[in-house]
Amino acid sequence: MGKHLLLPGLLLSLPMTAAWTASNCLVTEGSRLPLVSRYFLLCPMDSSLPFLASCILVTNLTQTLEAVPQHVEGLCLSGSISVLPPDAFSRFPGLKVLGLNLHFTQLLPGALRGLEQLQRLHFIGRRTDFLYLPPDALGNLSSLHHLAFIGPCLDGSLGVRLPPSLRWLGVTYSCLQNVGVLADIFPDLVLGSSSGDAWSLDTLDLSFNYRLNMTRPGALQGLQLRTLLLADTKMEVTAVVESGLQRLDVLSVKKPNMVELPAKVIAHFELQELHLQLTRIGNIAPEALSSCHSLRSLTLQNSFLSDLPPGFLTAMPKLQTLNLAANKVKIAMLCTNGTEAESGLQTLDLSQNGLYTIPPDTFSCLPHLRELLLQDNKLAYLDSQVFQGLRKLETLDLSGNLHIALGEDWLASLPALTTLNLLDTQMVLNLTFAFRDLERLHNLRLRLPSGPPWKLLLPVGLVSLELHTISGMKPWMLVPDVFPVLQTLTLKGWGLQLEVQNVSKIFPVLHQLSLLGNSLEALCSQGTSSFFLWQLPRLKQLWVRGSGHSLRPCCITGLPSLQELKLQGLQSRAQPRPVRLEELVGELPRLEVLQLQQTGLETLSAAAFQRLGSLQVLVLDWEKGIVLDDSLQEQSPQMPQYMYFLIASLACQCANAWVGHWLERSPRTYVHIVSPQLCQPEAGGGSKSPLFPFLRSHCPKTLELGLFLGSFVLVLLLIFWPLLQEARNWIRYLQALFRAWLQGLRDQRGEDKLFLYDVFVSHCRQDQGWVVQELLPTLEGCLPAGWGLRVCLPERDFEPGKDVADNVADSMVGSRVMLCVLSQEALCTPRCRLELRLATSFLLAAPYPPALLLVFLEPVSLHHLPRYHRLAWLLRRGDYYMWYKGDERKDNFWAWLGSRLRQPG
Ligand SMILES: *[C@@H]1O[C@H](CO)[C@@H](O)[C@H](O)[C@H]1NC(C)=O
Ligand SMILES: *[C@@H]1O[C@H](CO)[C@@H](O)[C@H](O)[C@H]1NC(C)=O
Ligand SMILES: *[C@@H]1O[C@H](CO)[C@@H](O)[C@H](O)[C@H]1NC(C)=O
Ligand SMILES: *[C@@H]1O[C@H](CO)[C@@H](O)[C@H](O)[C@H]1NC(C)=O
Ligand SMILES: *[C@@H]1O[C@H](CO)[C@@H](O)[C@H](O)[C@H]1NC(C)=O
Ligand SMILES: *[C@@H]1O[C@H](CO)[C@@H](O)[C@H](O)[C@H]1NC(C)=O
Repeated sequence: MGKHLLLPGLLLSLPMTAAWTASNCLVTEGSRLPLVSRYFLLCPMDSSLPFLASCILVTNLTQTLEAVPQHVEGLCLSGSISVLPPDAFSRFPGLKVLGLNLHFTQLLPGALRGLEQLQRLHFIGRRTDFLYLPPDALGNLSSLHHLAFIGPCLDGSLGVRLPPSLRWLGVTYSCLQNVGVLADIFPDLVLGSSSGDAWSLDTLDLSFNYRLNMTRPGALQGLQLRTLLLADTKMEVTAVVESGLQRLDVLSVKKPNMVELPAKVIAHFELQELHLQLTRIGNIAPEALSSCHSLRSLTLQNSFLSDLPPGFLTAMPKLQTLNLAANKVKIAMLCTNGTEAESGLQTLDLSQNGLYTIPPDTFSCLPHLRELLLQDNKLAYLDSQVFQGLRKLETLDLSGNLHIALGEDWLASLPALTTLNLLDTQMVLNLTFAFRDLERLHNLRLRLPSGPPWKLLLPVGLVSLELHTISGMKPWMLVPDVFPVLQTLTLKGWGLQLEVQNVSKIFPVLHQLSLLGNSLEALCSQGTSSFFLWQLPRLKQLWVRGSGHSLRPCCITGLPSLQELKLQGLQSRAQPRPVRLEELVGELPRLEVLQLQQTGLETLSAAAFQRLGSLQVLVLDWEKGIVLDDSLQEQSPQMPQYMYFLIASLACQCANAWVGHWLERSPRTYVHIVSPQLCQPEAGGGSKSPLFPFLRSHCPKTLELGLFLGSFVLVLLLIFWPLLQEARNWIRYLQALFRAWLQGLRDQRGEDKLFLYDVFVSHCRQDQGWVVQELLPTLEGCLPAGWGLRVCLPERDFEPGKDVADNVADSMVGSRVMLCVLSQEALCTPRCRLELRLATSFLLAAPYPPALLLVFLEPVSLHHLPRYHRLAWLLRRGDYYMWYKGDERKDNFWAWLGSRLRQPG
């Protein structure tokens, strides 16, 4: 039946329910960027920008940009455009970040005109694309500080002026072979060009220019640089010395054929930081060390290192950060078997070094160490001797050392420890005493061992705790029984003994909870409808990632502060079953972001959104066959402002036919559907066709005509309503009575009466919540849980284009039972009074009267009922009932209603 809104009150909800979309563009608020970040991967977007858009498959720039809201501050375009025309972005004067992933050939003069606020500009293209920039293409971008060319070849452009505000220049993945050519393209970089002074930049990124192998001596004469990035080029690192750079502080190189430390470069520039990765250095020559005294940070990752020369740390007195990850370093030499002088080192990364053991005194020269990373080694035993002297150590990572055994007092020498990671280990450790005396430990990540004593004694000051458990192990008891400052809790698998009732006392300030694996099931009630049991009044973020085994959904409900909820992988892989949104989420009044991924979600209806009054963003990912129930159209509370269907498909069903039309209306809910939506016609398996046009041509067309007529009549009604209301009502009333009487006569003549509906439900707008949430699910729900009745609901089932009173009268005549939902509010609205009046008149006029039932949602003085005396005479005692909230009394109510609906008349 078509949708039709006749009542002026409902008119007000029209703009709220409408949706909009921007064809192939995804629009988001910056603060929500992480939810859809994979659609912004190529663009340097930053979540501090208020409003962002990313458009794909752009073939007509003008057309695409027309759909983008004018106040976006970040814009990312990808498509097959090759020429940017003048004033291409003049509609967006507030643009701060622009990423263009196009098939470039040319920027016409003035293409970027008007972008005075632009701060970051990225050109992304294929290495085979040539991009021609006119000399003044960038000169007027007076706020630009970050400029990157990723891919396209710039070789044809010459003399391009750079804006003075520029701090970061990247030319990567391009055809660049010679650094000298770069200076020809951007002459501002070099001293002696027209601007007079040489440039000063924070960063010059020339990484991944696989063919870059030359530099003209003096090519970058006078350029002052803080950082030079040279990963994966063929350029000799020593050539940097001859390039004429006036200053260089940080050099980062990834170069598989490098065999020794670039001592000459370090010494020439007195480098502060050197980051080398994937080299073949192997051993560091003691002579090379002598030039390293200026280094504050050194990375020698994945460089086949084994021996460290004696005096390695002494040679670098300023060194604070040393990263030796993924080597085979003999660490005894770090402090030269305990003879090295004290070093100021603060961070040491020795992960993935295949270490079996750590000899005593290894860290004896590092009293200032704050962070020690030893993950993914093969450490077997550690005792307190190992960490002797690390009195300032704050962070220790031992994760991934599979078979580590830890001595009784192994942490005793680490009084400053705040962060400890023991994940992915099969520790042998007496946990009753393990963390004793670690008063400052705030962050602990731990895999629970499977052995006794099953009592986990933790520091009371923990702020964040992550526990992994092995399935089938005996549950552990947490001691102490209150964690007064614990804010973040992650549980992978369930292995704890916790009282559900007082969990809010155990974790009084918990903000963030992650339940991974099967831990949700342990926190779910076991009744017919299962719901989340932990009552955590302060919880703001909840992430549930299931293991694909749970057979029924657990409704997350009753968390008054929850703002973000992510449900992932909850559907059973073996027995998938479609769920309704209201089975997954219940009453969450503050929820702003809801992310659903592989939950088996099928139906979205108004009933679920009504309990999510603050919802702003809904993200559906890896969900298929979704049905947007048309109750959403009349969604009186509010739909979320943003709905993203990422890898998600709408079902090819007529129930979704209204959506296409809804999306074309004016703004309120932004809907973005990423995947193309196709329909496979059932019979014959013909070719797939786009969803909405298909539904439009195959589903009954009542919708649009109904809407047209509806709005037309609505406008008329609005104009004349006040004048005509009373008079009309009476005329209609008499007509309806007459028809009912005729109908009654006909029925009497023995013609079978066929009812269109089982129940006509009359209610006022204020009581709609009760009707939708309580009444309809039972009446309309499928057997055996529901009663499977055909219900006529005025807002939903009225025939479009027909007068209110006609509609009411016809629907009443066509229904077996009339049910009036009454409250104080209802009795004050003219329509409810009219419906009640009509209903009582029918009882009199029709020889075989349909039944009339009254439901009171609150106590109402009977004398407020219209025609009370007549009603009192007509109604039998069992024809009205009061609804109370308590469970037991609800049962009585349903029993009454059930019995009355089954024996009408
Ligand atoms: C691009 O779209 C605009 C507006 O929709 C239209 O006027 C123009 O002709 C289109 N250009 C091309 C090349 O199709
Ligand atoms: C740059 O700005 C100057 C002065 O406002 C103007 O004359 C010139 O046309 C602009 N150039 C471009 C490419 O927009
Ligand atoms: C740089 O590489 C090109 C080819 O990639 C080669 O022709 C040229 O000789 C190389 N130049 C130097 C200095 O290695
Ligand atoms: C350090 O100890 C190792 C064995 O533990 C030994 O082979 C090496 O010679 C010692 N080095 C120095 C400088 O004492
Ligand atoms: C743990 O240590 C306590 C005290 O030293 C001892 O009573 C208990 O038996 C130990 N448990 C294990 C499994 O070693
Ligand atoms: C939690 O509840 C149990 C029983 O319901 C009680 O024995 C225990 O003392 C409670 N713990 C706290 C911290 O209130």
